[in-house]
Amino acid sequence: MTETPDKQANMQWGGRFAGGPSAIMQDINASIGFDRKLWRQDIRGSRAHAAMLATIGLLSPEDEHAIASGLEGIAAEIEAGTFAFDTALEDIHMNIEARLTDRIGEAGKRLHTARSRNDQVATDFRLWVRDAIDGLTAQIGDVMLALAQKGAHHAADPMPGFTHLQTAQPVTFGHHMLAYVEMLDRDRGRLADCRRRLNFSPLGSAALAGTSFPIDRHMTAAALGFEGPTANSLDAVSDRDFALEFLSAAAISAMHLSRLAEEIVIWCSAPYRFIRLSDAFTTGSSIMPQKRNPDAAELVRAKTGRVTGALVALLTVMKGLPLAYAKDMQEDKEPVFDAAEAWALSLAATAGMVRDMVPNTDRMRDFAGSGFATATDLADWLVRVLRLPFRSAHHVTGRLVATAEAKGVDLADLSLEEMQSVEPGITAGVFSVLSVEASVASRTSYGGTSPKNVLEQAEHWLTVLA
Ligand code: ARG
Repeated sequence: MTETPDKQANMQWGGRFAGGPSAIMQDINASIGFDRKLWRQDIRGSRAHAAMLATIGLLSPEDEHAIASGLEGIAAEIEAGTFAFDTALEDIHMNIEARLTDRIGEAGKRLHTARSRNDQVATDFRLWVRDAIDGLTAQIGDVMLALAQKGAHHAADPMPGFTHLQTAQPVTFGHHMLAYVEMLDRDRGRLADCRRRLNFSPLGSAALAGTSFPIDRHMTAAALGFEGPTANSLDAVSDRDFALEFLSAAAISAMHLSRLAEEIVIWCSAPYRFIRLSDAFTTGSSIMPQKRNPDAAELVRAKTGRVTGALVALLTVMKGLPLAYAKDMQEDKEPVFDAAEAWALSLAATAGMVRDMVPNTDRMRDFAGSGFATATDLADWLVRVLRLPFRSAHHVTGRLVATAEAKGVDLADLSLEEMQSVEPGITAGVFSVLSVEASVASRTSYGGTSPKNVLEQAEHWLTVLA
């Protein structure tokens, strides 16, 4: 193992350490490579903490002022890219604190009174996840809006509805778009739930036991936009369930996006051609000039893997950890950062694709009528008009489908005589329900696919999302 004897003992906790860490120790221990993302939250938390310390008389007004302007200066340095992040200082908390002391001297050393990195990181991370939730919630809303607009525009355009990816019954393209609006609305709801439970401040829980200083945790909580302080210091520094809830919401939403992405891939494949994506969301092939590949959709579909992986990774890190803080928990950040980025990108790509896609309504309408898609309408007609029990109607319809299939025609192409040879009671009125348009128009039950329902729902969403 390589020792680095020339390394100074860590300036923040080096009091009882004579030598510095080995290079490997430093590498495995340092989180600055990724937790620098927390710098804004760290500075926010420190400013709130310093203001509180000044209010209770633990910091002089001059020191508090020096800290506040020092932190502001550091924020400017980081923003400008001139801040020198140092691996030897381990993480974002110590990098910022060390720089503060560089800039303002003694006062900087007073900032860490009545807090620990354990409550500091728990606070910073909650603030980061909360900011991510707010950004992602807005992005989900935008995808919903894009879908609702498409839905409103195509409220009456029929397409084949599938079960088992086999043609089942005609639906409208608008209805299909709005199905995803519902899913994404629940995704938003999961984020809102997560935010509500997350929004309590760990700051002032200190290392694990609280502190003997007369701090005002309500004050820092309010300054940071939290609902209040967390109630148990051990819990506050040692749970990451808020990050896990965020990741499960992410995994479920990424799963939803992957289903739409998969449909987009299918719909723009050559045998389907239900939609067309422009050059903006496709790529060409270097060898096959005819190709137009839906790479964005494929990548949205694929990113689900890393988002789900992040959830499993953090669950595994947290599983079996004894209270309170353990360094294992430093591994909480990368999965969350990575999943949040993948999710945000997937949402942006999905919004883009939905706005970009042009449905081939004629082709979808043709396919909506193929594959005996209106067989259920025929069975329902037999029940409604001839008063057959549904099971008998199902049987009669099955025989008519077999007849049509043997002739290689659709149900609507059978003659009345052919129909009557199976069920003598059938009248010419049956043909009125065999068209795709009649089929979708008849699905007026609440939540059904009739164009009237779909337009109402689309308009409802457009108002909600406006
Ligand atoms: N970088 C650390 C983390 O992300 C900060 C907390 C360190 N606490 C400690 N007791 N070593 O978890």
